This record gives sequence, structure tokens and C-alpha cells, in this order.
Amino acid sequence: MNNPDSPARVSLVGAGPGDPELITLKGLARLKAADVILYDSLAPAELLAYARPDARLIDVGKRPGRHHLSQAEINNLLVRQARAGRHVVRLKGGDPFVFGRGGEEVEALRAAGISYEVIPGVTSAVAVPAYAGIPLTHRDYAATFAVVTGCRKQGAAAVCQDWEALARLDTLVILMGLRNLPQIAARLVAAGRPAATPVAVIQWGTTPRQQVVVGTLADIAGRAQGLTSPATIVVGEVVALGDNAVNVLSRIQSATSHASFPPAQIQLPVAATVPTNGG
Ligand SMILES: C[S@@+](CC[C@H](N)C(=O)[O-])C[C@H]1O[C@@H](n2cnc3c(N)ncnc32)[C@H](O)[C@@H]1O
Repeated sequence: MNNPDSPARVSLVGAGPGDPELITLKGLARLKAADVILYDSLAPAELLAYARPDARLIDVGKRPGRHHLSQAEINNLLVRQARAGRHVVRLKGGDPFVFGRGGEEVEALRAAGISYEVIPGVTSAVAVPAYAGIPLTHRDYAATFAVVTGCRKQGAAAVCQDWEALARLDTLVILMGLRNLPQIAARLVAAGRPAATPVAVIQWGTTPRQQVVVGTLADIAGRAQGLTSPATIVVGEVVALGDNAVNVLSRIQSATSHASFPPAQIQLPVAATVPTNGG
């Protein structure tokens, strides 16, 4: 319901993946005008400095060891605040509709008859690889990419991906997959993806805490031990184009084919911290 003639009571705003400068101008304008801001733990905290001094800031993010609001409680809070006549900004990490439960919040607002708008954000799925210099597509290496999560909720159960089907795509971006990385890598290899396929794990991408670990499907689980959430995993030949894998690319180019990477030809850095200015 993005209607410029009728101002929405609730604005779902994508805050971007971590670098506060990645919010959109429209999102920032809503943030500055809001009466109430409900924000997630992955929304850049620096953005709250743009709130009005009298705005009410409500932290609804999950943090280890702390009680957090359930999704139903967040939905109710959004509805209550809007019904009280306030303009509410729901500030969400990345893009509200990419694994962000924005869809569930919109359903609740619609059911309550509350006007809302969705202001898209820069998703970590694209921006985090970009800050590590990894293009998701490249005319020589990748014409398809998919953004997936390790497992998803279906009723009470967790349903894991069809890794056999996903293995056939050129580039995979996996969110929330760090804990299952050993199983994911093994499943992709079992599905026919070469064990030497390059993989990057990027922790706290686009922030000063960014860390990039590069490896292959065969060894990434071991190399990435010690990294913590939030982390984005990129699987595919494009990883070899990234800032942390320049040596890999030159070795691959000197090899006969880029379709299959013999492990012996890939010398990857164990881990590296990269600058946060987009490069
Ligand atoms: C619940 S999902 C939300 C995704 C978000 N809506 C988006 O569009 O980026 C959270 C996951 O996104 C990824 N993520 C978010 N911010 C990140 C960052 N700064 N660096 C690396 N991964 C990040 C991680 O996989 C994390 O577990």
C-alpha cells in the first residue's frame, strides 16, 4: 500500500546491512519524522541518531541471553502504536522482505486495517558480498544466483533446502547458514558441485567488524570455525574474483578451464580483514 496521497501509519523501512550510509533517502526521511521506532538488532544503531529527540525508540531485536519479543508481540505493538495515532517506523536490517519477517508484519497490519508502506532496503545478500569485492554475476562465470537460507520454518518443523537443485545454480548466497555450513558444503559436493568450488564466509559485512574467510567446499567449514553470526556465505566461482581471492583468480585463469578448480591450484588466505569503504 505505497500510496503517496495517504500517508501510511506504519513504514517498514529497510535499514541496510550494517553500514549506516546504505539506508535510502526515503527510509531516512521516515526515520527522521517518526513518533515511534521499533528497531531490530541488525539495523545499524548509528541510524537512531537521526530520530527526533522526542521519538520513542523500542528495541525489539533478539540478543543472546535476553528476553526478546515474539513476532506476534511485535505485530501487536505495531498495531497498538499505530492505533494510538502515532507514525511508526519499523526499522529492519537489510531489506524488510528478504528473510526479515516483513511479510508477516504486513499481514498483521492489513488484518488490523492499518495503512502501511514498505521502503525497500539494501539487502545483505547483495551488499555483503559486494563489500568483499564479490560480484554475484559475471559474464564469464555466473549467469544465475539464488539467495537461500539453510533451513526454513514449515509449521513446527524445519525444512532444509533442496541442495541438489541449488547445486546446479552458478552462485549461491546463503543467509543464516553458518551453523549448518559443514552439512551444506557436504550436501553440495554430494549433489555434484566440485569440492574445489570457492566459498567465502563474510561476517559483519559492510561494518568495521567485517571479516572474510575464503576456502573451498572441501575446507570452508574448518576455515570458518570461529566466525559468528551475522555471516553471509557465498558459493561459486565468482568468489575467486573477490578482494580476498585475487591470487586464486590468477591461478584459475592460468589453468585450462574455469569450470572445475583442482584443489591443488588454489591457495587461499586463511582469513583476512578488509577495508569497509566498499572495496
Ligand atoms: C534474519 S536475516 C535478515 C536479512 C535482512 N532482511 C537482509 O535483507 O539483509 C539475518 C541474516 O542476514 C545475514 N546478514 C545480515 N547482516 C549481515 C552482515 N552485516 N554481514 C553478514 N551477514 C549479514 C546473516 O546471514 C544473518 O544471519
